[in-house]
Amino acid sequence: MRIEENYSLEKHNTFHLPVKTRWFMEYVSEEELSRILSDEYVQESYSLHIGGGSNLLFLHDFNGIILHSAIKGITISEETDAQVILRIGAAEKWDDVVEYAVKNGWGGVENLSYIPGEAGAAAIQNIGAYGVEIKNCIEKVDTYNQLTREKRVFTREACEYSYRHSYFKNEHNDPHIITYIYLRLSKKPVFTLSYGNLSTLLNEYPEITLTNIREAVIRIRKEKLPEPEVLGNAGSFFTNPVILQEYFEKIREKYPEIPFYPAGENKVKVPAGWLIEQCGFRGKSHGSVGVYEKQALVLVNLGGATGDEIALVAESIRTAVSEQFGIDLIPEVKYVG
Ligand code: EPU
Repeated sequence: MRIEENYSLEKHNTFHLPVKTRWFMEYVSEEELSRILSDEYVQESYSLHIGGGSNLLFLHDFNGIILHSAIKGITISEETDAQVILRIGAAEKWDDVVEYAVKNGWGGVENLSYIPGEAGAAAIQNIGAYGVEIKNCIEKVDTYNQLTREKRVFTREACEYSYRHSYFKNEHNDPHIITYIYLRLSKKPVFTLSYGNLSTLLNEYPEITLTNIREAVIRIRKEKLPEPEVLGNAGSFFTNPVILQEYFEKIREKYPEIPFYPAGENKVKVPAGWLIEQCGFRGKSHGSVGVYEKQALVLVNLGGATGDEIALVAESIRTAVSEQFGIDLIPEVKYVG
């Protein structure tokens, strides 16, 4: 167990904001987590569990306890001729998991290559990219209820997954800490190549394999998205809004080129990046906060930005999109105040 006081979170958030936490507590096992949660001081304090910090915006120093898992390990939990179920410690770097799966020829998560963050948070966030969401492969997750300290296994259904959402993100539910995730991967993978750029890029390869899909996805991501190590950012700052078909048609009359994806009966998903670009923000900077030139959905820390400054830019983007399109953008990034 590791406990630090007045600890810098600069390396624990991908915006690289130099905020401090009053306490930082990291555990390497379920037993250590259980001990931490049983502590009276911890029970009475304001706490937040983080993963790789790739989806967080700290508005200022954190006057409480930041909890972080250091539970590692990837093991085979079950295996048949057709499938394998991996048990993965929540602190494993997500992309190491993908790399491991691809190297072994197990399919399911290759489209989710190169997404920053840790395995536990990936399952909370239901990360998604290039036509695949992690929920497609989640078998179950092991958790601790932070309030009752009970252990509970959530099946995929119990996780209540939807677009960038899960049971664990619903603030009406008790906070649960994920200790292990279980992924069901296929030894005879069926590839998902529906995303335009991906299939186009794969035409350059002699054959479609897990390794080539991973490589192509990494190439697309490197082309479009800034590396958090170089330019602090948290990926897509907003989720893509889902609007009513009827309202979408009205917008399309004025903007016939608007990209969209069907999102269930009478609903359409529109790319927030496109809306933001239409409002003139792409490639612009406001003090130390930039709107990434190759993808307007990504806000970047150009150096020395504060959480408040990033939040202000996000707010002016929201206002502009709301005024021009009548659509309210919802941040995907979690604000920590
Ligand atoms: N677009 C613009 N201008 C921009 C950005 C995008 O016109 O500045 C247009 C693109 O030309 C394209 C459409 O919007 O027609 C969609 O853009 P893109 O393919 O880049 O994907 P996205 O919808 O912006 C989502 C996810 C990404 C994920 C990609 C690929 C969300 C909030 N974001 O982005 O996830 O990698 O699809 O599947 O759903 C993340 O969550 O952090 C993330 C990066």
